[in-house]
Amino acid sequence: MPEVRAGELLLRVVYLSLDPYVGSILRGRHMGEAPPEPGNVIPGRGLGQVLVSKAPGYSAGDYVLAETGWRDHAVVKADCVRRVGTGIAPLSAYLGAAGMPGLTAYAGLHHLAKIRGGENVLISSAAGAVGGTAGQIAKILGASRVIGLAGSDKKCSLTVQNYGFDDCINYRTPDWQDKLRAAFPQGIDVYFDNVGGELLMAALTNLAHYGRIVLCGLASQYHAEERPAGPNPGLYIAKRAQLFGLVVYDFEKEQDAYSEMAGEWIRQRQLVVMEDRVDGLENAPHHFEKLMRGENLGKAIVVVGPEAQ
Ligand SMILES: NC(=O)c1ccc[n+]([C@@H]2O[C@H](COP(=O)([O-])OP(=O)(O)OC[C@H]3O[C@@H](n4cnc5c(N)ncnc54)[C@H](OP(=O)(O)O)[C@@H]3O)[C@@H](O)[C@H]2O)c1
Repeated sequence: MPEVRAGELLLRVVYLSLDPYVGSILRGRHMGEAPPEPGNVIPGRGLGQVLVSKAPGYSAGDYVLAETGWRDHAVVKADCVRRVGTGIAPLSAYLGAAGMPGLTAYAGLHHLAKIRGGENVLISSAAGAVGGTAGQIAKILGASRVIGLAGSDKKCSLTVQNYGFDDCINYRTPDWQDKLRAAFPQGIDVYFDNVGGELLMAALTNLAHYGRIVLCGLASQYHAEERPAGPNPGLYIAKRAQLFGLVVYDFEKEQDAYSEMAGEWIRQRQLVVMEDRVDGLENAPHHFEKLMRGENLGKAIVVVGPEAQ
């Protein structure tokens, strides 16, 4: 075990979060962050339980969120962690719907798109951590119709059955663009984009006048060597569109308040948590590859240790 100094905590990692931004860091494409050198720890957020505390305000047994990296134990500075309550189950929801991906969905819909009651909303990567939460939050905030885009029939049916989307279109079927047009006879008021590329183009084409687009992710470019050219700005002009680039770090101060609100939604069953779990840290690389190939169903989580000990 590493030595624990004043102001630090020794954690046993219970859950490790796998997120697409880690792929961007490893490729040297994440907001100027340098990739780790070979032999160093792969970055990642974890939910851990305090084993040893040398920091005021924390005791053995407390649960915290921290930048633990891909490890089963980590020493972290206490002023860099967030304490979490034990009021929601599973606790791993603090890494997903009640955590950073959830805040991303909420910030995009509430703060940027300023979604209003009765609006028609389209969400891509609808079965994923951000997209699945965004669809449910859009409903909570009063959207009248929420349609998802996802990459398989299985993802689509889970999105409708588990998350309560009104419908979901598999964009790998040949007539998906016709289905999209038919799903929005009045046009799309808000598009929450996790993907970019062809899906963004299709959403833009079907946008209502004065529609808003939240640009959240670029999943279609995960494996692209070069950045493709964007759509002709004429389309944005014709639609009188508003575009919002979203960076969740801008909303970090709201994380605790959001987690509390999302926790209540989870307890009331207004917000359903769907996870793609694997047991054992040794399976993290394989599970991460699955996420980067788009084969995950819900929030990708590695269970590193038992929740209660
Ligand atoms: N802006 C921010 O601050 C912020 C914060 C958090 C996350 N994000 C972004 O939000 C997006 C969703 O994040 P998440 O954690 O919720 O991930 P996720 O949606 O659970 O997983 C990514 C999904 O991307 C889709 N995808 C589309 N094209 C793909 C391709 N070419 N290769 C692989 N996957 C592809 C897949 O779903 P389908 O099969 O349904 O297409 C896949 O399941 C990511 O792009 C992430 O980088 C942004």
